[in-house]
Amino acid sequence: MSLAFQAEGLVKRFGKTTALAGIDLAAEQGTVLGVLGPNGAGKTTAVRILATLLRADEGRATVGGYDVVRSAGDVRRLIGLTGQYASVDEDLTGTQNLVLIGELLDLRRRDARARAAELLEWFDLTEAANRPAKTYSGGMRRRLDLAASLVGRPAVIYLDEPTTGLDPAKREDMWGVVRSLVGDGSTVLLTTQYLEEADALADEISVIDHGRVIAHGTPAQLKQIAGGQTILARPTDPARLPEVAAILTAVAGRETESPARGVVTVPVDDDRAFATVVRRIDEAGISVMELSLRLPSLDEVFFTLTGAPAEVAA
Ligand SMILES: Nc1ncnc2c1ncn2[C@@H]1O[C@H](COP(=O)(O)OP(=O)(O)OP(=O)(O)O)[C@@H](O)[C@H]1O
Ligand SMILES: [Mg+2]
Repeated sequence: MSLAFQAEGLVKRFGKTTALAGIDLAAEQGTVLGVLGPNGAGKTTAVRILATLLRADEGRATVGGYDVVRSAGDVRRLIGLTGQYASVDEDLTGTQNLVLIGELLDLRRRDARARAAELLEWFDLTEAANRPAKTYSGGMRRRLDLAASLVGRPAVIYLDEPTTGLDPAKREDMWGVVRSLVGDGSTVLLTTQYLEEADALADEISVIDHGRVIAHGTPAQLKQIAGGQTILARPTDPARLPEVAAILTAVAGRETESPARGVVTVPVDDDRAFATVVRRIDEAGISVMELSLRLPSLDEVFFTLTGAPAEVAA
């Protein structure tokens, strides 16, 4: 396999702020790289450099083997970028915007229309297709931006926090879109602040903070760093808490903790442990108000990696 994009030692300063302090990022073709980090970590700066919209002070980056500075035109032909690059005209309808972009990309009118209809369907905008973009809600507008960046079937797609501001159902839809893009052979660089989202989509994740990669690995490897998954249980009758704790301990092979009154938690290494816990609690005839298997949050990953909470960079 070959790399779809690669950045090595990128440094970018804005006055006294060092946005990137020597960052390496890479993804194999046909995979999703998740770039996970808190506000101000440098995610957008890295994307803009890979998209030829900004020049690094040091380091180099290539997309499809083309250098982002020397061969910027070749790079732009390969990429789709949400936001700045694909700008939507407020007065045109959803369909008109996408058809116009298709024509600018030299698609035949019929193909441009077909592609527009397909993308509007993907992004659940078919009903709004003939309304001017200025009448769209924030979430609709964001989806139209995304659709616009995909008209040309880019080989490499940058999605900079694509689900921020979307409701949970639309977020799931977006995840489906990302999966089908990858299924079609595209490579995706996805930035996010949510470990859950990177876990759902990414083949590999680079965790960044203060312009540096502080961890890199598969989602499973990262979760291990932060102690894997946790089962949480809250029996309806608090008097049954000791029985629930005993079940959790027996299944997980570890002592439970009680982070809040009436609740017990235990870390687990194996997803199947959860099914066993559900069964045993049911067999014991214990009713529960809350029973969940959850990932560590980005905060917990950060805490494990840095010993400090994820903070907003100054
Ligand atoms: N054009 C600019 N001028 C000055 N400082 C900038 C500029 N762009 C980014 N920065 C600074 O660089 C750092 C990294 O910003 P960047 O936008 O890359 O972070 P981010 O990870 O995308 O954050 P967010 O999650 O908030 O989008 C921040 O401290 C930011 O204030
Ligand atoms: Mg950003």
